[in-house]
Amino acid sequence: MSTEISWEEHYKNATDRLPWDIGTPAPELQDAFKELKLQGKPVLEIGCGTGTNAIWMAQQNCKVVATDISPTAIEQAKAKTSEAKADVDYVLADICETPAVKDGAVDFVFDRGVYHVMSPEKRSVFAKRVADSLSSGGYWLCLAGSKDEVRENPEVGPPQLSAVEVLEPMEKFFEIHKLERAHFFLPNGTKHVAWLVLVKKR
Ligand SMILES: C[S@@+](CC[C@H](N)C(=O)[O-])C[C@H]1O[C@@H](n2cnc3c(N)ncnc32)[C@H](O)[C@@H]1O
Repeated sequence: MSTEISWEEHYKNATDRLPWDIGTPAPELQDAFKELKLQGKPVLEIGCGTGTNAIWMAQQNCKVVATDISPTAIEQAKAKTSEAKADVDYVLADICETPAVKDGAVDFVFDRGVYHVMSPEKRSVFAKRVADSLSSGGYWLCLAGSKDEVRENPEVGPPQLSAVEVLEPMEKFFEIHKLERAHFFLPNGTKHVAWLVLVKKR
């Protein structure tokens, strides 16, 4: 089964909200907007899922491109965007295969739980794709599962990366501005330890 089928199957077969789909804009994204003064800037979200964060960025007057590999996720995101009367340009694509924007087109890239699902080889491709998409000095905010969480069942929860695994593919293209312990809060009230990573294009 290809990765594309499995993500699509998740969205297509969901009978309830998917574990990562919290339905409210990520607080880490809102903090980054304040810190970096991103209102009104061109931005890209990779792996946007059902569009909650893309819509929020559009509501901050940003020119938003949002991409996902799942047709059903994009369909749901478009419906939510139209309901919110927001303006987001959605692109159905595998980000490792196809660029979502022209080189240097955006000042900020957001990924919540997408880079961390990639194989080590794909993480390097992903990091280069983000760097290519960004203008000089642009930022990437990445939220990724952390190995620091001790689990009874390692299969339950997001992928778990060490700090080195997260940063190593990034360092060739980015200065590391922030690496912090954070959390993914799930709709069912549980949480998982995560990395908050803010990097700046060299
Ligand atoms: C864990 S979910 C997170 C979704 C969203 N960022 C959120 O926080 O709700 C990972 C998302 O990445 C998308 N995805 C996985 N591989 C991808 C790829 N190669 N290119 C684009 N999107 C991808 C999946 O379809 C899924 O929507």
